[in-house]
Amino acid sequence: MSETLYQKLQVLESETHPLDRIGRLTAIRGPLLAWYRENARTLPWREDPSPYRVWISEIMLQQTRVEAVKPYFARFMEALPDVETLAAAADDRLLKLWEGLGYYSRAKNLKKTAQILVNEYGGRLPDTREELLSLPGIGSYTAGAIASIAYGKPEPAVDGNVLRVLARLLACRDDISAQAVKRQFEADLAAAMPKEDCSAFNQGLIEIGALVCIPGGEPRCGECPLRSLCLAERNGLIGEIPYKAPKKPRRIEERTILLIESGDRIAIQKRPEKGLLASMYEFPGLEGKYSPEEVLAAAEELFYSEAEIRSVTPVPDAIHIFSHVEWHMTGYRLEADRIPACFLAVPRGEISEKYALPSAFDRYIKLINGKS
Ligand code: ADE
Repeated sequence: MSETLYQKLQVLESETHPLDRIGRLTAIRGPLLAWYRENARTLPWREDPSPYRVWISEIMLQQTRVEAVKPYFARFMEALPDVETLAAAADDRLLKLWEGLGYYSRAKNLKKTAQILVNEYGGRLPDTREELLSLPGIGSYTAGAIASIAYGKPEPAVDGNVLRVLARLLACRDDISAQAVKRQFEADLAAAMPKEDCSAFNQGLIEIGALVCIPGGEPRCGECPLRSLCLAERNGLIGEIPYKAPKKPRRIEERTILLIESGDRIAIQKRPEKGLLASMYEFPGLEGKYSPEEVLAAAEELFYSEAEIRSVTPVPDAIHIFSHVEWHMTGYRLEADRIPACFLAVPRGEISEKYALPSAFDRYIKLINGKS
């Protein structure tokens, strides 16, 4: 098999003069860029890396896989093609476009930032790390990604993929969830990255993390353009690095979900403007785990006189996992003569079409749509 360009470009390190951290990161430039040119996936935000498209895609790609993001990105660009339309978008429309991606505060911050861009930056995203960092929802990674990918600036962009690749390359056994480790990698990359091809350099590291130095499972070291420089591979540490300190266990919240139905209408309500799933719609609920008798008693106390409730029927339980909390849900279908005035009474068919209900309620949405 003939050698590829990036294999030829691998730097061979002398045993007597090993590279230091910056030297090692500088030495990856050639093989990384050559590999990226041959192996980069064609992705919608790469074909036209305008600042707006890079910004939106990078926010969507936080916590969400590339394949899952693609249809969301296409719909978002169609509906809100520029900063101005995003700044003027109705909240419900924006949340509907975001529905299923989760972490809804990201969508709200997009709109806040778009409004700042319209009012203070002539509708353009700034190109410096400092200005980008001052905008809602833009942290160190996203600022670096926008500056380098959209504006070609030599700014590092260290996300989870890059943390893993660098930890292995440098045989760093520290906890990669620690901010100090990320800051150190950013400083090292800022010193080592090229002044040209900054977009390809940063996206090359991300791409190696996604395709070669993969999370979970065996990395594909045989295909890695950085293999000859990788200290974890050389020292048999691939299985131990990256190291992540165990997380605190998530808090468990018991909730009772009420599918209150009257004829073809069903009750939903808007969540508070602050906190988890802010401003999204939800089925009414009670904190804690209720039995059918307790549901009946609570509904009579809160919304109904006794004769108005026709039946209370258990429906399947559901669990939804957020980053810090788990909802353990017990569900009931409550058929009644009317929907209490404190709720929105929505025709069953309109729930999925018109309202942004978080995916935490998927099990119950399917149920009322007759699909399970
Ligand atoms: N994940 C985060 N940013 C990305 C990018 N620009 N390309 C592919 N995957 C990514």
